[in-house]
Amino acid sequence: MTDNKTVYSRSEAFEASEDNHCNKTDNPTIGEIIEARFSRRQVLKGSLGVSVMAGMAATGGNLLFPKPVQADESTFSFDEIEAGVTQDHAVADGYSADILLRWGDPILPGAPEFDPENQTAEAQAAQFGYNNDFLGFIPLTENADRGLLVVNHEYTNEELMFSGLGRQDRDKKFADTTIDHVNIEMMAHGGTVVEIALGDKGWEVVNDSKYNRRITAETEMLISGPCAGHDRMKTSYSPDGKMVRGMFNNCAGGVTPWGTWLAAEENVNGYFWNKDARDGHPEERNLKRMGAPGQWYSWGKFHDRFDIAKEPNELNRFGWVVEIDPRDPTSTPKKRTALGRFKHEGAETIINTDGRLVVYMGDDQRFDYVYKFVSDMQVDTENPENNIDLLDSGVLSVARFNESGTVDWMPLVYGTGPLTEENDFASQADVLIETRRAADLLGATQMDRPEDVQPNKQTGSVYVLLTNNTKRKDDQITASSPRAENAFGHIIEIRPEGGDHAIASAAWEILVTCGDPTANVGASFNPETTENGWFGMPDNCAIDSAGRLWIATDGNSEKKTGRTDGVWSMETEGKLRGTSRHFYRCPVGAELCGPTFTPDDTTLFVANQHPADGSSFDEPSTRWPDFDDNMPPRPSVVAITKDDGGKIG
Ligand code: FEO
Ligand code: CA
Ligand code: CA
Repeated sequence: MTDNKTVYSRSEAFEASEDNHCNKTDNPTIGEIIEARFSRRQVLKGSLGVSVMAGMAATGGNLLFPKPVQADESTFSFDEIEAGVTQDHAVADGYSADILLRWGDPILPGAPEFDPENQTAEAQAAQFGYNNDFLGFIPLTENADRGLLVVNHEYTNEELMFSGLGRQDRDKKFADTTIDHVNIEMMAHGGTVVEIALGDKGWEVVNDSKYNRRITAETEMLISGPCAGHDRMKTSYSPDGKMVRGMFNNCAGGVTPWGTWLAAEENVNGYFWNKDARDGHPEERNLKRMGAPGQWYSWGKFHDRFDIAKEPNELNRFGWVVEIDPRDPTSTPKKRTALGRFKHEGAETIINTDGRLVVYMGDDQRFDYVYKFVSDMQVDTENPENNIDLLDSGVLSVARFNESGTVDWMPLVYGTGPLTEENDFASQADVLIETRRAADLLGATQMDRPEDVQPNKQTGSVYVLLTNNTKRKDDQITASSPRAENAFGHIIEIRPEGGDHAIASAAWEILVTCGDPTANVGASFNPETTENGWFGMPDNCAIDSAGRLWIATDGNSEKKTGRTDGVWSMETEGKLRGTSRHFYRCPVGAELCGPTFTPDDTTLFVANQHPADGSSFDEPSTRWPDFDDNMPPRPSVVAITKDDGGKIG
């Protein structure tokens, strides 16, 4: 990280930062547990482990786990594509993958055309942001041929955005970064709401739509829920602790049943500055548990609020789930503090059998946790306006994955168990501001970087995507993290009995451990999976209206897996359970984010983040999607449709 001559990839920097093991607790890594469920030796012995685990998958695993529906034949009908590394993207035969939105495309009225050599903060604030991540589609018409696309812009790669700059070295305090670079970066973060319509030429942006909106790192937002107005939320900008400027590092998210957008703030620690001020800081313990200040960006060099000495509480105002009403472009986004503060990957919702809302969330850091929130109130499915502040009251819980194949959800409620004054919690606001430390005290299970946690509305199952954890040691192996040096990740399936997602305990099972099944890495894909069909590093996912699972990956490369990231379909039921198939391939260097279907499954939207990652603006490894010598690689949203107009897959 300190060699200034190397062009570092920003995503490698993020990866490296996640090596910082912020969780210093010795919460049960239930090392013994694995012996009882899968013998660790069998898992690690490769082919034997594969057959044991594939066998468990095919039979539905342990006795607690209800037998899935039996189906002998695949329901996926597309011909799989070749896994590999190419400058262009690719999709299965009979499908088209069309570019819908690129970094720099005009979004607001008066926005200039993208001019990469002369970019300004003002232009960027009215154009599509960088590194598109979560995508949500909110239909505006009955047949969903018009709708709002909501997009998170997670982070920026200065080495790919600016000519002549290269990757800046944080230890040299970003010597070549100017305030103009920083202000462009701040406007390239946040999110976009854009109206899109299906016409003769496929999906197109409605340029003059009243809904079109940019949200940036400066957009005024409300702090809502138990932490609003708390002393630890007060700053010079917001003396009453109720307002905050902006959101950033919004990774995945969700769309609520009432049509609002949840944008989850993930690696917010990286935007804060001044490591020397940490020891003795009033929030020292809290800063350390969040890995802050990370100083991955130079915003603190030019804007005092990102300096932890100058504005000691500012970081407490980030790391939340933000709710935004895309139908009202004048609405003020709200940070929903009842959902906890950590490195939120996503926030996927389901209406429970009792009518309450359940939000599933992962904390994407090595050895961190899986959470869920259950609202106090029932969702009003008839009158969306009655759900306006539904996310402000409810119970946040953290998961403990037991040896017996059950997962216990442990409530994070002030005044209960260890969450008292004895451990420096004086209110529910304190518990939520330091959600991670509260979860440590409850003995939550340390996981391998929880990314999307996705409920399946058709089957009632919940998929937990665990992307990797190369820092897990042999003696840290657990039932829910069965591999040391887990380079390729795995997927856990939770099946709450009767589809009751508010339940305190549910059965869980590993759906698949990832990586090359022919290598000796303990991968457990179903033997029906081809050499193109396996993948590493599951990250985000989508579920189509038939309840089928589609996986997006982050971290595959020539070096690691001989393939780029992309989309793979995955069988979850019957004899083929654990079989995956390659549907879409990213251009080199890109990570695949945000997969989401239209309600009729005829379009799959995907987001390609940081194409050409690992290279630079001046010498990019691809110029996707324009392939124009005057254009840099541009993160872009792609609309995938079937050429005959039918359902995807
Ligand atoms: Fe932003 Fe956890 O990926
Ligand atoms: Ca992600
Ligand atoms: Ca990721």
